[in-house]
Amino acid sequence: MSRRKKQSNKEPRHSRRKITSIQAVKGMRDVFPPEWLVWNHILDAGEKLCRDFGFGKIETPILEHTELFKRGVGQATDIVEKEMFSFETQGGDKVSLRPEGTAGIARAYIENGMSKWPQPIKLYYEGPMFRYEKPQAGRYREHHQFGFEVFGDKCPAIDAQVIYLAWKLFQKIGVKDISIQINSIGCEECRNNYKKQLVNYYEMKINKLCVDCKKRLARNPMRLLDCKEDKCIQVSSSAPQTIDYLCEDCHNHFKNVLEFLDELELPYVLNSNLVRGLDYYTRTVFEIWSSGEEFESRQSSFGGGGRYDDLVRYLGGEDTPAVGFSFGIERVAEKILKDGFSPETKAAKKVFLVQLGDLARKKVLKLFDKLIDSNISVGESVGRGSVKSQLKMANKLNSKLALIIGQKEAIDGTVIIRDMESGMQEIVVMEEIVAEVKKRLRK
Ligand code: HAM
Repeated sequence: MSRRKKQSNKEPRHSRRKITSIQAVKGMRDVFPPEWLVWNHILDAGEKLCRDFGFGKIETPILEHTELFKRGVGQATDIVEKEMFSFETQGGDKVSLRPEGTAGIARAYIENGMSKWPQPIKLYYEGPMFRYEKPQAGRYREHHQFGFEVFGDKCPAIDAQVIYLAWKLFQKIGVKDISIQINSIGCEECRNNYKKQLVNYYEMKINKLCVDCKKRLARNPMRLLDCKEDKCIQVSSSAPQTIDYLCEDCHNHFKNVLEFLDELELPYVLNSNLVRGLDYYTRTVFEIWSSGEEFESRQSSFGGGGRYDDLVRYLGGEDTPAVGFSFGIERVAEKILKDGFSPETKAAKKVFLVQLGDLARKKVLKLFDKLIDSNISVGESVGRGSVKSQLKMANKLNSKLALIIGQKEAIDGTVIIRDMESGMQEIVVMEEIVAEVKKRLRK
């Protein structure tokens, strides 16, 4: 006979072992219903405004060839150098989770022959982005962006329109105390000249720079301008400024953008140190910051964008001017909550259904269906037994009316309608309840 102990077949063997629980990947988080109320408010405002401005929605894959970001965002940027989630597929393709949306949309523009469609092409999008950054408040390894891009128009009025749309969207969402920081970094030609001057300047101050900036100087000197180390900020305060090196076309373009912004009465701040962390930008660059706050880290930026007239060509397409903007949904959600946005009022259920007993429960399920078909926002708690606890919930949801069905009402085919503010109750026959609710909600 075998000496091995016979295993009971009542319980699977693994269930008795202590199993360690699995947690979300560092820097990634779950988003629960209360937070989604805020997110929906942001996304609804974004989608409505973009459609009003003639934008259509685009969705691109979360996974793209790594080469797209190397060529698009830039090999020497922090994002590509240190922050991408990259891996090789089983078929040997080198792919990355997208760290941002613009490069993928430019790829889609080329791949789908959009240059043959009537220009400009105006697209908006939302979704997750992935950056292997040090997680902290407002900075995650998975974050979400809402953004919009315009392809095929080089007119400065379009830069102004994109900035105006970003500004208006933040007003609609209810983001308070913000400023538009704006600069022009010129075209490739004026930038080459500028970079030489910048390298000369920083080389003379090399001993005053942080270790990272010393390394960056040869590869990407413009990144030194937005280093957050105190000593580098000090050196950068007297560095040459991009606007002094703009060629005539870039200078005129920027001047026109600012004139349009003046016409639209947008409160912008000229910021000569604003260069953005992605290599595809040309000419206009801008960010939306919390106004009055010192710009201490990239975290204080709610959104950013600018013109990227060379990106489509860099990715193998035709010469196509483009400009766009995106913002971080987490940062904007945190900001409006801090400013007092109350998602409860948004979630108010105008009518709450209260039931007592199994028969009443069945009637309530049917009535729920009728009410939502009539576009009335309705709450229920069919799992609960006590009328008191259900009325408490109706109160919490700010319901104006409670519709109560007990055993007697279920048999009689009636409903008790209760005004939650006055506590007054009345009996109404089931056939007339929807009309009666609509009448009372109109008051
Ligand atoms: P970006 O400035 O890198 O620009 O990102 C846009 C926004 O996404 C930031 O302002 C910030 O609110 C949010 N964000 C970025 N990284 C994180 C993070 N790790 N955690 C939380 N939020 C974050 C772009 O991505 C460009 N594609 C914008 C653009 C569109 N330019 C032209 N069109």
